[in-house]
Amino acid sequence: MFNTLRLQIRFLVPLILTLTAAAYLAQPLLDSLTLRWFSRDLTMRGALVTSAMSDSLAAALESGGKARIQVLFAHAVQDERLLSLGLCSLQGVLLQRSAAYPANVSCAQAQLIAARDVPSLDLESGRVHVSVHPVLQDGAHPADLVLMQDFSFVDRRSQDTRKYLIAFMAALGVVIALITVIVAQLSWRGWVSGARALLRGEGLITPLIGNQRELAPLAADFRDRLRDLEDTYRRSLDRDDHWDPDRLRALLRSQLRGDELIVVSNREPYIHENSDAGVVCHRPASGLVTAVEPVMRACSGTWIAHGGGDADKSVVDGHDRVMVPPGRDEYTLRRIWLTPQEEKGYYYGFANEGLWPLCHVAHVRPVFREADWEMYRRINERFAEAVVTEARSDDPVVLVQDYHFALLPALIRKRLPRATIITFWHIPWPNPESFSICPWRAELLEGLLGSTIVGFHTRYHCKNFLETVDRNLEARIEHEHSTITVNKQTTLVESYPISIAWPDDAERATWPSVSDCRHAVRARLGLPDGHKLAVGVDRFDYTKGILERIHALERLLEKQPQWIGQLSLLQVAAPSRSELEEYKAFQLRIHQLTDRVNSRFDQPDYQAVYLLDRHHDSDAVNELYRAADVCVVTSLHDGMNLVSKEFIAARDDEQGVMILSRFAGAAAELKEALIVNPYHVEEGADALQRALTMPVAEQSERMSNLRATVRDDNVYRWAGRMLADAARWRLRERIDARMQTPSDKS
Ligand code: F6P
Repeated sequence: MFNTLRLQIRFLVPLILTLTAAAYLAQPLLDSLTLRWFSRDLTMRGALVTSAMSDSLAAALESGGKARIQVLFAHAVQDERLLSLGLCSLQGVLLQRSAAYPANVSCAQAQLIAARDVPSLDLESGRVHVSVHPVLQDGAHPADLVLMQDFSFVDRRSQDTRKYLIAFMAALGVVIALITVIVAQLSWRGWVSGARALLRGEGLITPLIGNQRELAPLAADFRDRLRDLEDTYRRSLDRDDHWDPDRLRALLRSQLRGDELIVVSNREPYIHENSDAGVVCHRPASGLVTAVEPVMRACSGTWIAHGGGDADKSVVDGHDRVMVPPGRDEYTLRRIWLTPQEEKGYYYGFANEGLWPLCHVAHVRPVFREADWEMYRRINERFAEAVVTEARSDDPVVLVQDYHFALLPALIRKRLPRATIITFWHIPWPNPESFSICPWRAELLEGLLGSTIVGFHTRYHCKNFLETVDRNLEARIEHEHSTITVNKQTTLVESYPISIAWPDDAERATWPSVSDCRHAVRARLGLPDGHKLAVGVDRFDYTKGILERIHALERLLEKQPQWIGQLSLLQVAAPSRSELEEYKAFQLRIHQLTDRVNSRFDQPDYQAVYLLDRHHDSDAVNELYRAADVCVVTSLHDGMNLVSKEFIAARDDEQGVMILSRFAGAAAELKEALIVNPYHVEEGADALQRALTMPVAEQSERMSNLRATVRDDNVYRWAGRMLADAARWRLRERIDARMQTPSDKS
């Protein structure tokens, strides 16, 4: 703005000065011109006056009436312009003169002056115009009349003209300058917005397409090309790109104009609970929380979640909000309260007895009850209400998390049509046949398709989702672009492998050394430092393959008995969903299996399996990872599994072996892990044997590659890719809207 003003002043001032100078320089020319015009006028006027007086003068001359001539002169000079008159004989003798006629101006002089271009004479009284005219009567020419008319007005007029001319030129300069500046401004703005639009990819399109029906095929083609380009760009996103909190923040602010991120999940990132020591705050065992929490800390905003801790209500403000992480206050946690009845129907019932087994295909029969479904709908509506309340604008960026909120995207879309809604499904998506078990499959799909983007961990789950929609809804599916359009709302279906925040140097500096961890963990179990430890860290869930893992260990001890007394499995099983019969039965089964295997290989001071079924905080888990020889992830089906990535991040000594189920999403990325089919006990046992005997150099080779993968594909990249896609999506929608031809609209 300031620059524009300076530019205008720089342009305006010289222009005005130039025009003023031009006016000043042009003045003499103008003066001489006007002088001639006025002179000619006065000469003509003189001729007229002479002609009017000729008869009377000739008669007076003839009669020798000098007095009569004086009377005529006196009468004539009553005209204020006519100052004096002189009557000359044809011989040049001044016969008569009026009172004001200068005595020193002879007839000959008067003739000479009158013959000039501008016949003027400067007298004391001022400048006079001199003209000489013949007195004619009936063809006779008895004398000449000299007329002296006031010529001083010409100078006055010339001065006035000069003033007006300069003022006019200056005003003209201002007007021209202003017009030029306005035109320049308008065209500059037009150019700039055009350039901006062009940079955004819009500029070329609007004028090209307009509203012309005949250009519709071109528009469609152009749209397709644009999508192809976008797809290529999206898929080719440079793997070398480094993603960190700063880059994520910058992306959110620059591309989504967002300074507010709203996350919605069932599980809250911090739980406040009463204990003997007062209110304590802990982080739940949840892959979702592990991943989304660093994103939230980077971007700030509001996280809406179920307040499930027994001290949660005691720490919130009047709007059910509390700043977290405790003591650092980096973002707002907005808690939603559920009655035990609501939690039973929505969370335990529909989400975890219905959708969880439906999506995991882990051979546990899904249970769908009408009452649970009603509760699920009601709670989704409550969370939608909370999103609307928490949104500070009509186009917030909302990250909807997981299978607890399949209906939420459409509910938010209804209330905030301009919102960018990114829904991430943290668990697998089954094939269409499996999904068809669900009585409310269409409602769930329609709910999800309120999203701008629906994200899964793997391409395979995306493919399942597209096929499921194809089977169940009237939708336009474009497989090559991975989009679904229902009721004019288009949703991008894309894979975004979730990850963890790669620990930085400062964080790693706080970790105890690997040898200290090895020693500390073994000492607690009464084991020597050389004792081999395989570690498993899971929620106590039937999908995690804990049973299969113990069977694999048992088989190894059978096949390779030299490990009896030398090797143990340390299994952390964080309590989870224990209200449900299925979980209770499963947990009991694991306890029984552990007891049986332990007694089978019983030795003094030795236990084959240590089952730690209690919550471990992140430091304790990290210590276990660093103490382990092998980390075992044998999920029967898992969206991603972040335990595998946490283990790799913890091993900065580049030692330790990762055994990973091929049914975990992570297997697609972590190629250097020992990939197993957890259902195949023999394969599990062999993988354990191979891991335990793997040379240090091979461990190092594999681990360094795994570490590079997890470091690069960190959680900021996960969130960044989704947000970048959402930003491009918004832009494309704007372009599409501009390219709408009348037929598109009708
Ligand atoms: O990762 C899948 C997931 O269901 C998350 O959605 C959830 O946070 C986590 O497992 C733990 O489950 P829950 O919240 O039911 O304890």
